Amino acid sequence: MTSNLRIRKADDMHIHLRQGELLAKVLPHTASQCARALVMPNTTPPIVTADDLNNYRNSIQKLLKTEDAFVPLMTFRVMPTTTPAMVKDHKRAGATAGKLYPEGVTTNSEGGVKDLQTLYPVYKAMEEEGLVLCLHGEVPGVFSLDRETAFLETLRTLAKDFPKLKIVLEHATTADAIDTVLKLSANVAATLTAHHLRITLDDVIGDKLNPHVFCKPIAKRPADRDALLKAATSGNPKFFLGSDSAPHPVESKECACGAAGVYTAPVLLPVLAETFESAGHLDKLESFTSRFGAEFYRLPLNEQYIELHRESWTVENQYGGVVPFMAGHRFAWKLSSASSSSKANKTKQTAKSSA
Ligand code: DOR
Ligand code: ZN
Repeated sequence: MTSNLRIRKADDMHIHLRQGELLAKVLPHTASQCARALVMPNTTPPIVTADDLNNYRNSIQKLLKTEDAFVPLMTFRVMPTTTPAMVKDHKRAGATAGKLYPEGVTTNSEGGVKDLQTLYPVYKAMEEEGLVLCLHGEVPGVFSLDRETAFLETLRTLAKDFPKLKIVLEHATTADAIDTVLKLSANVAATLTAHHLRITLDDVIGDKLNPHVFCKPIAKRPADRDALLKAATSGNPKFFLGSDSAPHPVESKECACGAAGVYTAPVLLPVLAETFESAGHLDKLESFTSRFGAEFYRLPLNEQYIELHRESWTVENQYGGVVPFMAGHRFAWKLSSASSSSKANKTKQTAKSSA
């Protein structure tokens, strides 16, 4: 039985880092487990201009410690008002992707896109600039469990009309979505979250209501969860990690009208190691967390390593006023404390690869 895991640090290709105090609280969890993360732009106000993007990147970088060696990959929101010229500005500002939220589909998606067809010049510009289009793939107003499936026709149309545009269907939650992404070209991929690999709708509402696993898209049926797990552990590069870690203060979750979002960042790699091991595919973990995302985004593989070891530990009930995914759960895999020292590991890796 493996008792130590040494893998390349994760590239989390979908994360909500928030702003201000909450950003300062949540960032260390991601910076210690991930070499890079694609930072979502649904802040308040949203990241719409190149200045917004630069300012947001600065506010993240200011909070990083030198030893973190963490790189935030920045995104902008594709809004009804976005123009091809703005796309070029974003590219110059170093954006990695644009994120499109259909109007009202999730947290802070107000002012989102009502008619995806009207933005064809913007997708064209993104295709030309080599910027990835990240889609929150749900149709608002449709019955909750069917919102993602209803979006898949739009995904097929965009993939057909922009064959060179790289498109990511974010946080896929259904077997239908997996089938669709499998059938489309290599330019279309999907991110999968750690929580959707574990939970179904029953974990949210099947017994007592659990607001801490309420998210958009909502977790679906056991057959959907099984399809996601199969995709994640299949070794197919179209499926890679995007945690969608989405922290909300406990009082915004445990109330009437609770916010959508699951805070997975503090437990990201322990959850995934446990999940892949239970599925009998621990060997596929590293490519899912640390290779396929980079390859899809045409980034060099990150050169930092992290270690986990087999030791049982119990997850805190809260981190800085935010309840993490699987609070109180006893995990089998623990992050080794020295493992986030990227410099030491980098040296080790360099020595290893030149051997
Ligand atoms: O549950 C979610 N929460 N889904 C999203 O798409 C957004 C996120 C958030 O920002 O809280
Ligand atoms: Zn998200």
